[in-house]
Amino acid sequence: MPARSFITTAIDYTNGAPHIGHAYEKVLADVVARYRRLRGDDVFFLTGVDQHGQKVQQSAEKQGVAPEQFVVDITAQFVALWKKLHVEYDGWAATTEPLHKTCVQRILQRLWEEKKIYKDKQGGYYSVRQEQFLTDKERGPDGEFGPEWGQVEFREQENYYFKLAEHKEWLLHLIDSRAALVYPDFRRGELRNAVEKLAGDLCISRPKSRLEWGIELPFDADFVTYVWFDALVNYISFAPGGYDARSGSHHPEFQRWWPATIVIGKDILIPAHGIYWMIMLHALGFSDADMPRLVVHGWWNISGAKMSKSLGNVVDPNVLADTYGAAALRYYLMSDIATGKDSDFSEERLLGRYNADLANSIGNLLNRSLSMSQRYRGGVLRRAAGESPLRGQAQAAVSAYREQLDTFQVQAALTAVTDFVTACNTYVEMTAPWKLAKDPERADALDHVLYALAESLRIIAILLSPVLPNATRGIFAQLNSAGAMTLAAAEWGGLPDGHTVGKPVPLFPRIEAPPTE
Ligand code: ME8
Ligand code: MG
Repeated sequence: MPARSFITTAIDYTNGAPHIGHAYEKVLADVVARYRRLRGDDVFFLTGVDQHGQKVQQSAEKQGVAPEQFVVDITAQFVALWKKLHVEYDGWAATTEPLHKTCVQRILQRLWEEKKIYKDKQGGYYSVRQEQFLTDKERGPDGEFGPEWGQVEFREQENYYFKLAEHKEWLLHLIDSRAALVYPDFRRGELRNAVEKLAGDLCISRPKSRLEWGIELPFDADFVTYVWFDALVNYISFAPGGYDARSGSHHPEFQRWWPATIVIGKDILIPAHGIYWMIMLHALGFSDADMPRLVVHGWWNISGAKMSKSLGNVVDPNVLADTYGAAALRYYLMSDIATGKDSDFSEERLLGRYNADLANSIGNLLNRSLSMSQRYRGGVLRRAAGESPLRGQAQAAVSAYREQLDTFQVQAALTAVTDFVTACNTYVEMTAPWKLAKDPERADALDHVLYALAESLRIIAILLSPVLPNATRGIFAQLNSAGAMTLAAAEWGGLPDGHTVGKPVPLFPRIEAPPTE
């Protein structure tokens, strides 16, 4: 039986247009999903949009449109971008959908009946930007709330609270006992420290007088649900099989896929995913083995600074994809950052990587290998006797690639492939097929080289397929390979004796740098 992979991402907030950080996370999850498929897993990839909350209500007001209309427009921008970037998902989670709202309300009702939610009156400082009450921990050394919280105001009101603090010891134990709960490991340490400090419960309601754009509490129509308590539920409300919040018992189809691997950015590990979500699931009766796995990636910065609307340095992935193509953008986003770490975004580096790795290194290998096969052998490959030196290198590349992708390290996996491509180009220089072609005595040696190059290209195409799905189908087409695009097929010797390769067509034409003013 194949393994099952349920891959999800954060759902993108629809208070503004998609940016490069959104594109990165989505392509990363798409690559992980495609890799798992390549590996033979049954895969379900879920993603979507987070459509409620104060910031959406405010942005809609500013534009003078109803929030319903506002989120439809922004959601369409996300959907169009994923299509443009060849992000292919199996499920779409949009939190205004009735299915989701019903699930959230049933969860609230159950937790209320089980007295895991209670009503209380509290006053405190509230960050409008972050949509949360602040505690003294959030105060800076000067005793003030820093600018990252935006506008902060004192608020006193009756609200509903979800019991968090009583689960502290359980959560600490879970973090200690399950190393795979959070990747990378240093984030697990950060989460542990945050849980140590956990005190107090979570306010999960907003009075309608302040916020209307949310899911109404089923037991009090004067309130809507706090956006995080709503959004986190998407991972189960939209899971295959669906989640039966009333009974809490897991549908067999749900249980077949759950738990999910959730790909998120570093800013939403603490407290949202690492604390609230884990405790919500625990309170709903999910077992420790059914806790999701969190893959926490870093951020793209701009010249070392945080990307933000107020700084006016937001990078639009649409413009990049239109200028350089989806392949160039996907390749850059996957090759210029290590999963878990931050990286600095640079358009020059995007162009440089495309030209060096795709146009020059891989494009050149494909072009020269097929040209020589056509010129010297009319495209027909012969499996001459004897071991190719490229075979061992191909095998080493495949195993390094697997090892890295099994731990979400796409960049290192790509390095294993591009190193192999470099080895193949070096092999061309060393064996000089153009010289072998002049010597009839060396006919076998020439066949040997041409076969090894085509076979290497077939394996390279398989390995690159999660990152470059379209281009690698192009390589297969030029090789005229009818073989499977699976990791199992990335074994030396897949092209049969007598196979005829096609003619080379440039896949990655060089892109000249745009003129600078
Ligand atoms: O947080 N680099 O939505 P969001 C890399 N709706 N990743 C970045 C980034 C950057 N510069 N900026 C943002 C939300 N991200 C919530 C999630 S989940 C139930 C609800 C990542 O649109 C960010 O870390 O603000 C997050 O994982 C994702 O983009 C969506 O951010
Ligand atoms: Mg955010």
